[in-house]
Amino acid sequence: MITFLLNQQEHVVENIDPNTTVLDYLREHLQKTGSKEGCASGDCGACTVVIGHAGNVGIEYSAINACITLLGSLHGKQLITIEDLKDGECLHPVQQAMVDCHGSQCGFCTPGFVMSMFAYRKNNEQADRQSIIEALGGNLCRCTGYRPIVDAAVQMFEPPLRDQFDQTELAVLASLNAINEADGAVKLTGNSKHFFSPSTVKELADLLLEYPEARLVAGGTDLSLEITQFLRSFDCLIYIGRIEEMKTVVQMDDELDIGAAASYGSTKDALVALYPDLHELIDRLGSKQIRNQGTIGGNVGNASPIGDMPPVLIALGAKLVLRKGDVSRVIGIENYFVSYKKTSLETSEFIERIIVPKPQADSVFRVYKISKRLEDDISSSCGAFNINIVAGKVKKATIAFGGMAEIPKRASHCEQALIGKNWTDVTIAEAMDAMDKDFTPISDFRSSATYRLSSSRNLLRRLYLDYEQGEKSDREPSSNLLRVTQYA
Ligand SMILES: Cc1cc2nc3c(=O)[nH]c(=O)nc-3n(C[C@H](O)[C@H](O)[C@H](O)COP(=O)(O)OP(=O)(O)OC[C@H]3O[C@@H](n4cnc5c(N)ncnc54)[C@H](O)[C@@H]3O)c2cc1C
Ligand code: FES
Ligand code: FES
Repeated sequence: MITFLLNQQEHVVENIDPNTTVLDYLREHLQKTGSKEGCASGDCGACTVVIGHAGNVGIEYSAINACITLLGSLHGKQLITIEDLKDGECLHPVQQAMVDCHGSQCGFCTPGFVMSMFAYRKNNEQADRQSIIEALGGNLCRCTGYRPIVDAAVQMFEPPLRDQFDQTELAVLASLNAINEADGAVKLTGNSKHFFSPSTVKELADLLLEYPEARLVAGGTDLSLEITQFLRSFDCLIYIGRIEEMKTVVQMDDELDIGAAASYGSTKDALVALYPDLHELIDRLGSKQIRNQGTIGGNVGNASPIGDMPPVLIALGAKLVLRKGDVSRVIGIENYFVSYKKTSLETSEFIERIIVPKPQADSVFRVYKISKRLEDDISSSCGAFNINIVAGKVKKATIAFGGMAEIPKRASHCEQALIGKNWTDVTIAEAMDAMDKDFTPISDFRSSATYRLSSSRNLLRRLYLDYEQGEKSDREPSSNLLRVTQYA
């Protein structure tokens, strides 16, 4: 049984197949058909709903894709859908702005846009066009055009907001706290399948010993696609999003210690403070909805060769804390990836934490993502460079790529061609040639093999030019991710 607030009302669910998504539950079980299904893969945003969490200073609102969110993950949260925005006969200011600015034609995308705008309005006091565009990056419209929608998102800030959600916030907070503080295991069972939602690492470790075949769900932004796109049905799922210990981001003397269940949204600031170049990469990782749910632990756990964080973490020399039962071990992240989607994780073992070293003196870190679309697109390749340059010579170089091999992989020949050499364009040209020995990429719908190799070679040149430009102008070189984006 799980309990959540459906808008303001306590809602209990039991005896339902735990592979059910929030969207299917809304549309097929509750006949709430305002949230639409466009893609069922987190790409179009038509299904966007808003989740309210009990935060430190009230309710925190996040837009998420209902099509790839599993119902069981709603326990202890508030679910707000498009049906809940109107207050009696009065449209919500977000809806009114969409009407006033002619932000809707066929209307299929409109509920999703409105919900993304609603979350943005609740989280911001002022309109900022750039951050509005970022907040709407996960919503697609095929007919209205984006200009009137962005205009509406600016206009919705004109009336000061005091809506029904402000008026009931304290009561909602009290209800959420009561649900979250109630004793007892949280478990959803139906159709002989189980969804467990432990609240401690110990509980998780014990559950994995008892159910070694169980699949972990963090944000579910990869795993749910196995259900919605490949029509798989899991017998046992264990959700880790309620384990607060696994959501912490802790500053140590020399390292940043990130819980495997921490979302991109909650990790970004700490990572960017250490490595400013990660700003653009994380902003381009999926959409706002995906970053609200998705985790770095899931990105590593998924072991996809085209995940964006693995090459970054390899270049930074990150370590993983793996745990099985009461026993933990620490491995270099590079050793985690064995072959295509195969990892060194043992049965019943899981990633508990990710340890990221802080930058060393004289180190330069850059990451470049190449994708067809700027927002919400998977990389065709992603190169991360961590280089120490002392007195014009390369002292250390750790370079890793995603999208260039069956696993995220170091460019070892390229590194060797740099280490101990003068940092000059001649060295860079030799290191670019050496990269040919590191990778034999494949051709697929994202890129041809030739494009992958030549663009990756050129990322090293890009890094060199960026660095030189930064040296000459006496400032940090910019990463210019936008300039290396390939528009198809
Ligand atoms: C529309 C869309 C856009 C996307 N864009 C990008 C992108 O630009 N770049 C990118 O890299 N990815 C992208 N992704 C993929 C996905 O969002 C990321 O990989 C994300 O980090 C996955 O995290 P999650 O918490 O949702 O993982 P989940 O889906 O919960 O889990 C992923 C896998 O890891 C396993 N797992 C989860 N946690 C652990 C753990 N603690 N220990 C061991 N195994 C674990 C799960 O069992 C599962 O097999 C996109 C996905 C979608 C749907
Ligand atoms: S239906 Fe397209 S993102 Fe959910
Ligand atoms: S209004 Fe038709 S898809 Fe946006």
